[in-house]
Amino acid sequence: MQRLLVTGGAGFIGANFVHHVVKHTDMTVTVLDKLTYAASREALDGLPADRVSLVVGDVADPTAVEPLVAAHDAVVHLAAESHNDNALSDPSPFIRTNVLGTFTLLEAARKHDVRFHHVSTDEVYGDLELDDPAKFTPSTPYDPSSPYAASKAGSDHLVRAWVRSFGVRATISNCSNNYGPWQHVEKFIPRQITNLLSGGRVKLYGDGLNVRDWIHTEDHSSAVLAILERGTIGETYLIGADGERSNLEVVRMLLRLLGHAEDDVVDHVTDRAGHDLRYAIDASRLRDELGWRPQYADFEAGLAATVDWYREHEFWWRPKKEATEAAYAARGQ
Ligand code: NAD
Ligand code: DAU
Repeated sequence: MQRLLVTGGAGFIGANFVHHVVKHTDMTVTVLDKLTYAASREALDGLPADRVSLVVGDVADPTAVEPLVAAHDAVVHLAAESHNDNALSDPSPFIRTNVLGTFTLLEAARKHDVRFHHVSTDEVYGDLELDDPAKFTPSTPYDPSSPYAASKAGSDHLVRAWVRSFGVRATISNCSNNYGPWQHVEKFIPRQITNLLSGGRVKLYGDGLNVRDWIHTEDHSSAVLAILERGTIGETYLIGADGERSNLEVVRMLLRLLGHAEDDVVDHVTDRAGHDLRYAIDASRLRDELGWRPQYADFEAGLAATVDWYREHEFWWRPKKEATEAAYAARGQ
């Protein structure tokens, strides 16, 4: 596997993954990215030009996709519309990119017999009760709640069907909530950090008791690389690092890290429609079969490093902040 095609490689997780691949393998990487509002060319700065190139294109466009897939040994597919709140305002780009885009890539992988890894989300499993000891496993039934989750569930089903019906050499990973550098300011952790750095207020949906299972994006990258290199074709791997925290707990950590007295700057705003209560991942297949271990076990230390990163990269997030907050304000959030 020398030539890797990474779709969505200019996005948050994709760009971190490209850096990880360049650092830990000798593969060459082509990024295929439409450069939507969520992309950051800057996130690919500094990578060696003889190892990494960027092609601007749409994963739902077969004329862009097919020759590129044919010219690579493997595809890691991350390109997606990724933000739940946007999907509630307008689901259509989610269906086009996440469903039609995955279909388009799968057809090219089938035609040219190219190894395919599909990056997906734990949201395909719906949610868990707050007091339920259970976690998601690879046999948890699909039960997506939101338009974004349904579009990702649809894409997972396509991958499974292309493996079984056409013998496409594919694997799937379903990961929990990522945090780390280059995450768009629309997402929960960067939004609150940049609100506080701007002298603004934290915006918590509802009571703030919803739970997410946080994983550093670097640990997501190492897991995806392990699956790409050693995973069993046709298998689904859940990726998580035992990082369950309520949104309120995360906010309290951020307030401590940024030197605010508790709760003096917190607004409880309109809750998200259909808001999933809790996600939790059982990653034992990944640990037991592939020997994967997360490196960022200390969530608060990872969060502190992320706060520092946003302090140092205001030039990057500041231009995105005003429009993002205007869209939230229009929704009462
Ligand atoms: P992101 O929104 O930060 O980045 C998405 C990237 O895809 C952007 O660079 C964008 O320009 C590109 N893109 C969008 N539509 C495209 C199209 N039609 N053609 C080509 N490129 C297109 O997303 P992210 O948070 O980095 O998520 C990456 C992947 O990981 C997604 O598939 C997402 O479902 C999955 N995932 C994300 C998380 C998370 O916590 N963020 C967790 C689990 C899984
Ligand atoms: O679980 C994996 C998923 O995690 C990925 O598939 C998605 O692409 C990714 O965006 C993320 O989805 P969430 O909807 O969980 O992430 P988000 O950052 O939007 O919200 C995290 C939690 O914080 C959620 O309970 C909603 C809440 N929230 C969010 C925002 C933006 C707030 O309380 N206030 C906010 O301002």
